[in-house]
Amino acid sequence: MSTTKAADRAARAATRHAGARVQLVFAGAFAALLALGLPFAAQAQQPIVIKFSHVTTSDTPKGKGAEKFKELAEKYTGGKVKVEVYPNSQLYNDKEEIEALQLGAVQMLAPSTAKFAPLGAKEFEALDLPFLFANDDEYTRISKGPVGQWLFQKLVPKGITGLAFWDNGFHMVSANRPLIAPADFQGLKFRISGSKIADQYFRLMGGLPQILAFSEVYQALQTGVVDGCENTPSNYLTQKFYEVQKHVSAANHAHLQYAVIVNTKFWTGLPADIRGQLDQAMNEATDYTNSIARKENEDAMAAIEGSGKTTIHVLTEPQRQAWKTKMMPAYDWAKGRVGKEVLDLLSKAMDTKTN
Ligand code: SIN
Repeated sequence: MSTTKAADRAARAATRHAGARVQLVFAGAFAALLALGLPFAAQAQQPIVIKFSHVTTSDTPKGKGAEKFKELAEKYTGGKVKVEVYPNSQLYNDKEEIEALQLGAVQMLAPSTAKFAPLGAKEFEALDLPFLFANDDEYTRISKGPVGQWLFQKLVPKGITGLAFWDNGFHMVSANRPLIAPADFQGLKFRISGSKIADQYFRLMGGLPQILAFSEVYQALQTGVVDGCENTPSNYLTQKFYEVQKHVSAANHAHLQYAVIVNTKFWTGLPADIRGQLDQAMNEATDYTNSIARKENEDAMAAIEGSGKTTIHVLTEPQRQAWKTKMMPAYDWAKGRVGKEVLDLLSKAMDTKTN
């Protein structure tokens, strides 16, 4: 691991432990105040705190979206709500943050749709199908329509409320050898984030997919635990994956999107006027995030290219077609994983565009 990366990890671990200590101290102080009979009015003046945990750095589309939500939420509620954003797996990694949301230790997350199976909502993985979206606009249109609403309904029995879908553009794939033809994937171990759909398309290409938390990817690539991975340019740049991968291929083979979710008990327990103000903040933060995702990724791609540390291969149309042909059986396979209903809804939404 590079010294900077090691220092980052150490700092993060220290922050986590410090955070846990602060929580304990805070809990103790709160109990003491209650024992002293602190008047309820004084307690009521305390702002409502929303802890928003996520795993990317602050200078990514998701990181900037979370900061925008904080800014707008605090503004529209006149300071009655305070949003604390914890980026870069500072509090929790992928799996932990879902558990923390269910337990109420944090109130808001924005995991990628690839990570919803542990919540009992594997239908979200339908959005990870290969070559599904032609571009970011198509993704935004579909996620804001009936497909997005249907997916959010799946969260209701789990005590989770879906607020918005956020964009982070298209995945690239990397390894220490060029990945141009499907045969180049043969026998390589690829880190995936959780989706069985991704598991399937990597297997169809001859790769060996393996689930790892996002916070563990850099080290896994560096030490050879895995040979390659997929992610968006903004994540390659900010997590420094490009420093430990000699070749990156851009084929737009799959899309990375997030669902912003809250704990329902917390959300419905908020005063209606505050919830309305937060809804407004979330709608605007969503438009903002989706509007910057493409440029953020283009800039990240240019920075990676400029670093000279890796070679980027932008696939030609025939090369993309060869990947597509190889990955297409994932659609048939997906019926048994996400169910036919969401696949039908998706294909209907896609047809609407062409009618
Ligand atoms: C993220 O962008 O939230 C991380 C995605 C991943 O785990 O690959």
